[in-house]
Amino acid sequence: MDGNGRWAELRGQPRLLGHAEGAKSVRAVVTAARELGLEALTLYAFSVQNWSRPEDEVLGLMQLLYDYLEEELPTMLKNGVRLRSIGDVERLPGFVRERLEKTEDATKAGSGMVLTLALSYGGREEIVRAAREIAEDVSRGQLAPDQVTEEEFERRTFTRDLPPLDLIIRTSGEMRLSNFLLWQAAYAELVVVETPWPEFRKEELVDCLELYGRRERRYGLTSEQLAARGELSSP
Ligand code: FPP
Repeated sequence: MDGNGRWAELRGQPRLLGHAEGAKSVRAVVTAARELGLEALTLYAFSVQNWSRPEDEVLGLMQLLYDYLEEELPTMLKNGVRLRSIGDVERLPGFVRERLEKTEDATKAGSGMVLTLALSYGGREEIVRAAREIAEDVSRGQLAPDQVTEEEFERRTFTRDLPPLDLIIRTSGEMRLSNFLLWQAAYAELVVVETPWPEFRKEELVDCLELYGRRERRYGLTSEQLAARGELSSP
């Protein structure tokens, strides 16, 4: 959800105002995703590296997160949205952690869409954590080195219960992943839009999904091989 700061600075406003407008986009995009029938939506709301931002910006973001969780709970329940989080959430301030736990608990029966907030999240950190867990199991003799497979690794990721990642949307034009879902991104489609996150709403999401629908996903095979298998190569 990139571009909040620049959006505000362009208007001569403090960065936090950009984040507040970004929180409105979160509400709009989550509602739209649910209406459009998406199974899962993951939002990169706060990275491990974001802890190094100025203290007032970090605190402002935590407050926006808290407000969002508190205000949106009735809507999540009404729409069958199940909220979960990925990342080193233990680092979040107590008031946010508690609200997060309450929301996750209250929405756990939701079967409409899984909304995942990546909080204090880093893709490299996730990979290191999984590797460490595997190393510990191997050293205890609970896992043999030849049992270290992709599936075994996948089971140690935060996203093990989520469907495979199909599409990553990056707003505000930067052509990089910025430590987001690095393992999961292997075969995901990437769409980068110039629109800053505060201006990214339902129409922009629909445009990205249409673009995704026209992509050919070949997973290393040729179009002919996919056609011969009778598999649809586009989503
Ligand atoms: C990146 O933009 C955005 C963030 C670090 C925070 C995203 C947070 C929100 C949209 C609001 C709170 C979240 C929820 C789920 C309610 P940037 O600040 O790096 O923008 P810039 O690159 O233009 O400086």
